[in-house]
Amino acid sequence: MRNKLNILFVASEATPFAKEGGLGDVVGALSTTLWRMGHNVRVVIPRYSIIDKARLGLKQLRRSLGVPMGIMGTLWRAVLEGRMPGSGVPIYFIEHEKFFERNGSLYNEPSGNAYGDNDIRYIFLSRAALELCTMINFRPDVIHVHDWHTAVISVFLNTTAYKDDPLLGNSATLLTIHNMQHQGNFHKRLMEVLGIGWEHFNYSELEFYDRVNLLKGGIYHSTLINTVSPTYAKEIKTSEYGWGLDGVIRDRAKDFYGILNGADYDEWNPESDPYIAANYTEDDLSGKFICKKDLQKTFELPINGSVPIIGMVCRLVYQKGIDVLADAIHRILSYNIQFVLLGSGESWAHLYFRDLAKRYPKKFACYIGYDNALSHKIKAGADFFFMPSRFEPCGLSQMYSMRYGTLPIVRATGGLNDTIEDFNERTLRGTGFKFNDLITDTICNRIESAIYTYHTNKEAIKTLIRRAMQKRFRWEDSAKRYEELYYLAIKKRMNDNRFRKDSKYIAVANEFKMEIGYLCRNSIIG
Ligand code: ADP
Ligand code: GLC
Repeated sequence: MRNKLNILFVASEATPFAKEGGLGDVVGALSTTLWRMGHNVRVVIPRYSIIDKARLGLKQLRRSLGVPMGIMGTLWRAVLEGRMPGSGVPIYFIEHEKFFERNGSLYNEPSGNAYGDNDIRYIFLSRAALELCTMINFRPDVIHVHDWHTAVISVFLNTTAYKDDPLLGNSATLLTIHNMQHQGNFHKRLMEVLGIGWEHFNYSELEFYDRVNLLKGGIYHSTLINTVSPTYAKEIKTSEYGWGLDGVIRDRAKDFYGILNGADYDEWNPESDPYIAANYTEDDLSGKFICKKDLQKTFELPINGSVPIIGMVCRLVYQKGIDVLADAIHRILSYNIQFVLLGSGESWAHLYFRDLAKRYPKKFACYIGYDNALSHKIKAGADFFFMPSRFEPCGLSQMYSMRYGTLPIVRATGGLNDTIEDFNERTLRGTGFKFNDLITDTICNRIESAIYTYHTNKEAIKTLIRRAMQKRFRWEDSAKRYEELYYLAIKKRMNDNRFRKDSKYIAVANEFKMEIGYLCRNSIIG
């Protein structure tokens, strides 16, 4: 075992406690895997109202936590402590009844609009996580922050009193960008809440078109940065995918990496999944046919084993290409197929797809909302899984559906491009169907060829299903790459001139240097 690291994860969600998308899956699974590898991991997330302290047996820390919030003063709140089920990773929940106990989703009002105070909510979380380290005397070697919500932690560490703090001053930071579209872009008066000097409100650091951009600050100040697939790492260096921050990423290109996410096969496994009608394996798919019938029954579609079902589970937002789907769907529904959709997001899409279900009751069904059990049923019961994403940093749903033998039909972008091998009619290689252009003709052509293969070449489909079910994206592999990044980040932080040269740390530094020598010789991260 290499040096055991103290790793602090700070994020806006973590499974199984709170999840709205893949970010929650990643924080839950990666922290658990690193813990199992022997690292000393702590996770910090908000205590949202869906997190039931009594049911989970969370313990309140004896002292309250004082969180300095600039001109808002210091806010004193409770912290609850628990353990991740299964692994026992210690997890801390920051309480604030006004910020986190709400009726809507984690980030949005029931109307779908973002909460007006998301800036304050996540600055509070970020600052609270740093103060918590002092309170519980945890000295992180690395603080792993995720997306704009906690990216500001890296800025705090370099620009405020934390930089001379004996516990936190030497902590390296790794920022993982799960989505470049959401940047935490707010009015510049937020500087007064951050308590960061105005000299940092400049073109390179926090300023973006005269507003504060928390993701930009994080990209500038984090020791290292990564995103969640190699293709997306290339894409966000371009203006097409960079949402205005591509230049900032290019400036940090030598500290920027792409690491593919893994899939949690304890949760997503057709052999043991408790949510599906029958379990099955790649050697015996009879259970999958039962799941298909169950899906048709659940969605009140005609029970028919020979008609292919296309399933889709996603947030109904621009990123997922749902506007293009809305254009293409009438042509898609002219084929002999059934289509089931589970998702929630933009309100126009709720109305549109509900209406579509009324117009095509025998072919199209949807459930507008969030439902984990239903999402498992679709991944098991459908024949194909559709993801026409405009951009997709990684995407987890296509990995899960592969495990269930449900063949992905995806746009070749980001992680979808990295995880799916396109079906080749001649060699019969592949794990799914890919297309490039996000336009009706291209989408429909690829769907047509998938359906054609389904009807005319059962052997090819069987081979594809088997190959897809055998494919693995193991968290253990991704976690090893993160471990390498942590070591590199620590080394970089030690060499930068903010490093405090106290003797205890130099000893640790020398050990790490040996470790880095080993890593460089064997490195996959170059
Ligand atoms: P993203 O993080 O962009 O939403 P991912 O594919 O990485 O996309 O992760 C999505 C995760 O959220 C998957 O675990 C998927 O099953 C789940 N999910 C998305 N929408 C829903 C929904 N309406 N109901 C249940 N699960 C959902
Ligand atoms: C984001 C991305 C998704 C990715 C997930 C986890 O929500 O949209 O592609 O899989 O984060 O990294």
